[in-house]
Amino acid sequence: MANIQEIKSAFEKELSTCQTLAQLQDLKVKYMGKSGELTSLLKGIKDLPAEERPTFGAKVNELRNIFEEKLNYKSAAMKAAELQRRINEEKVDISLCEMQPWGALHPVTLAKNEICSLLISMGFEVLEGPEIETDYYNFQSLNIPYDHPARDMQDTFYLADGILLRTQTSAMQSRHMEVKKPPIKMVCPGKVYRSDSDASHSPVFHQIEGLVVDKNVTLCDLKGTLEYIASHLFGKDTKVRFRPSFFPFTEPSVEVDLTCCNCGGKGCSLCKGTGWIEVLGAGMVNPKVLENCGIDSSEYNGYAFGMGIDRIAMIKYGIPDIRLIFENDQRFLKQFGK
Ligand code: PHE
Repeated sequence: MANIQEIKSAFEKELSTCQTLAQLQDLKVKYMGKSGELTSLLKGIKDLPAEERPTFGAKVNELRNIFEEKLNYKSAAMKAAELQRRINEEKVDISLCEMQPWGALHPVTLAKNEICSLLISMGFEVLEGPEIETDYYNFQSLNIPYDHPARDMQDTFYLADGILLRTQTSAMQSRHMEVKKPPIKMVCPGKVYRSDSDASHSPVFHQIEGLVVDKNVTLCDLKGTLEYIASHLFGKDTKVRFRPSFFPFTEPSVEVDLTCCNCGGKGCSLCKGTGWIEVLGAGMVNPKVLENCGIDSSEYNGYAFGMGIDRIAMIKYGIPDIRLIFENDQRFLKQFGK
């Protein structure tokens, strides 16, 4: 019995010094665990005279209940104090007026969204294609065989035999024509890659491809579509001019110029005094490309165009160097926030 009293005071003393839940747990094990103090007390019961055993056993059990209760009480108090501490510390002061700064869409995203919405309003569907592309879709299906000199116009990053980083979103033309029967009206925005780098060329840049395949499509349809886009992007007086050009996948092919949005066509530094700005390549889909994709070129024809989104964004927002677009300088990007 004297032992019981001793253990009780020792427990209480130790309990009063406990400061963490872990310490409480250790204390519990020390007194109530398998080889704890109370268990050894109970083991000693066999050495007592038989008549004392029930009282002794009851006392030990009572002690166990007291310990249990004290431990629970203290641990609940510790948990409550911890919660209170976190509530105080993590309190959100909603009256604080310094808000997170607003983000802004990237100028290329702004231009892409604007061009895509215009095309969507004319019934085009928006598709995306792979940036790691096969030589077949990027070149061969578009009437550019292995030894074709037109490959020199697009300095290509080859990854492995027959695999490359696409140099043009035109690769998506054949992918789509293979699976969709005409009428087709699609646009494909995305990144393209060429081994080129200076103030107006970046090894990665963005294009939007447009493709229409149907019966009786004309160059006039192409011009009308481009005039609609140009007038919405750069103002209603913007004029569109076609110059003869060459792309293996279009015939005839054109280079498309717009009247300079900076000087209205009078001539300035942006248009290098010409009054015109070159913005895209286009043409009537070469019948060979249609046939490569299983479309009967005696029944169907079409037009295609490919424009550089970065270039459009640079003209629209007066960005002097294409590298600004890829540097992610916050001072530059912030200007496009509302
Ligand atoms: N893919 C061409 C380029 O990157 C642009 C183009 C697209 C030309 C579609 C004609 C038709 O230069």
